[in-house]
Amino acid sequence: MRFATLIKKFGNFTALDNINITVPTGKLTTLLGPSGCGKTTLLRIIAGLEYADSGQVLFDELDVTNTPVQKRHIGFMFQHYALFRHKNIADNVAFGLTLLPKNERPSKADINKRVAELLDLVQLPQVANAYPHQLSGGQRQRIALARALAVKPKLLLLDEPFGALDAKVRKELRTWLKKHPPRAWYHQYHGNARSRRGTCGIR
Ligand SMILES: Nc1ncnc2c1ncn2[C@@H]1O[C@H](COP(=O)(O)OP(=O)(O)OP(=O)(O)O)[C@@H](O)[C@H]1O
Ligand SMILES: [Mg+2]
Repeated sequence: MRFATLIKKFGNFTALDNINITVPTGKLTTLLGPSGCGKTTLLRIIAGLEYADSGQVLFDELDVTNTPVQKRHIGFMFQHYALFRHKNIADNVAFGLTLLPKNERPSKADINKRVAELLDLVQLPQVANAYPHQLSGGQRQRIALARALAVKPKLLLLDEPFGALDAKVRKELRTWLKKHPPRAWYHQYHGNARSRRGTCGIR
């Protein structure tokens, strides 16, 4: 993934000032910087939730600068996991799949199957019919992760994924993630050890 001369302004304020970064494929890349330096803004632009004023975003040298979010095949999990309160867990995990362009959208049966696989993956198969408020913070975070992985993302963006958790749950989830590193998720999920996937995270 490459950014070339990215500039983003909010009114007169320049949040991203000529960003040029190349992020290697198949690696975990971390952005570090003080509060307000533009990390979230950059991730939102990568995801297609925000657009730069000028410059380019390239995936495998393909220009996706103007590609809408649902066509970028990116999974993202932001600072606050923000599950939909009025949807049950299965519908939360399925959400990204239901938004895919029609020609890529799986059938209802395939969506149900994929949701079940993902809930197994995050070791919460029993909560499909529960609602977010019935889960602990750590469990919600794992569901947010399952939701991010549902669209088989080429790239997984994690924006301070532990920010909303207390120290104990944070430790639990870190331990869980160490045991299930991103490539293992992809391997399990895609069943394809050769697939090369990129990840980008913010600590
Ligand atoms: N929608 C917006 N409108 C106006 N200013 C914004 C908007 N979004 C972000 N900013 C400003 O852009 C700058 C970068 O914000 P951003 O959220 O990217 O920072 P960050 O590096 O993620 O910070 P933190 O570590 O606190 O999460 C900040 O000064 C912020 O106030
Ligand atoms: Mg931020």
